[in-house]
Amino acid sequence: MIDFTRDYEQVLSSTDSGLFCRLLEAAEKVRLASVGDEVHLRGLIEFSNVCQLDCYYCGLRKSNHAIRRYRLGLSEVLELSRTARELGILSIALQSGEVNSNRQVDYICSVVRAIKEDSIRDGSPGLGITLSCGELSYEQYLRLFEAGAHRYLLRIESSRPDLFSRIHPPVQFYGRRLECLDMLKDIGYQVGTGIMVGLPGQTCEHLAQDLDFFKERNIDMLGLGPYIPHPQTPMYNTSNPIIVEPYINTLKMMALTRIALPDTNMVVSTALQTIRPDGLKLGVKAGGNVVMPVLTPEEHRSDYALYVNKRFKTLEVLKEEIEAAGYSMALGKWGDSRHYFRRLNLPYPECITG
Ligand code: 5AD
Repeated sequence: MIDFTRDYEQVLSSTDSGLFCRLLEAAEKVRLASVGDEVHLRGLIEFSNVCQLDCYYCGLRKSNHAIRRYRLGLSEVLELSRTARELGILSIALQSGEVNSNRQVDYICSVVRAIKEDSIRDGSPGLGITLSCGELSYEQYLRLFEAGAHRYLLRIESSRPDLFSRIHPPVQFYGRRLECLDMLKDIGYQVGTGIMVGLPGQTCEHLAQDLDFFKERNIDMLGLGPYIPHPQTPMYNTSNPIIVEPYINTLKMMALTRIALPDTNMVVSTALQTIRPDGLKLGVKAGGNVVMPVLTPEEHRSDYALYVNKRFKTLEVLKEEIEAAGYSMALGKWGDSRHYFRRLNLPYPECITG
């Protein structure tokens, strides 16, 4: 009998479709018991694609001169956050390429403050804000937290130091990324991380270690997505991947993560929804309980191409697909990570309505 809490490599390398179905069933059961049938929303505002890094896999890398670089103005971001609120999306995610200057951090702080001031009314806590802006210093993370952001996403990309160093230039350090995750936790953020599935050279053993990494670090939020080769990156021409079914393996990773960390928030990544039309449906079944509707203005969307053919879905389409899978879209509430509150021995605020 395979044990879904332990036999990771065996599950990941299996081609048995019966086993895959049993895994999804087990994950669905755990999910319903721990976080219920809701799928929470994070309105995604990709406020800048300017990036100082040169990750070998990412379309935003600084050496990609084929995209137009942009940064939205404060009032534009504020306007988008109002749109989110009007749609009933009470948590937003501000994402950008990595720029670690104090000037950039000042700008993000002012955006966060403006959104908070604008949305806090009659003692309500306003919009929930997640940031995803890369590696910064302790002081910078602290300033952003004090400005009002309370969740931060920083993917480890692969928890294996050797694989991490193969997909990043030598100026980027695995150890530094770990330090950042520690700092974020220390400051009090709800901390999210994640990986890509199907990277060249990545094996089922690596993925099994990623699962151990999530458990050991007691992660509050997770984002697991298939790696999608981007033609304007050096990794596009790298030899064939070892994991040939990134879609199935991402779903397996999501299901195993849900079973390992029952009360985390886990996103159904846009990448998963991009590589297969039924990505959202199966992602939700595999334990995903967050989706990120894209609010970035249409004119900039194609310039925020981490990978190619990124799929865009309206809130209505997301709702239909979530309901068709038998789940419900949670409008009008923050939808924080239950795991975070349990980790800190605090009661879960069932319904922060912003
Ligand atoms: N394919 C899939 N995901 C990618 N990301 C970046 N480039 C790609 C790609 N080519 C993911 C990384 C990053 C997140 C913002 O997007 O995991 O952390």
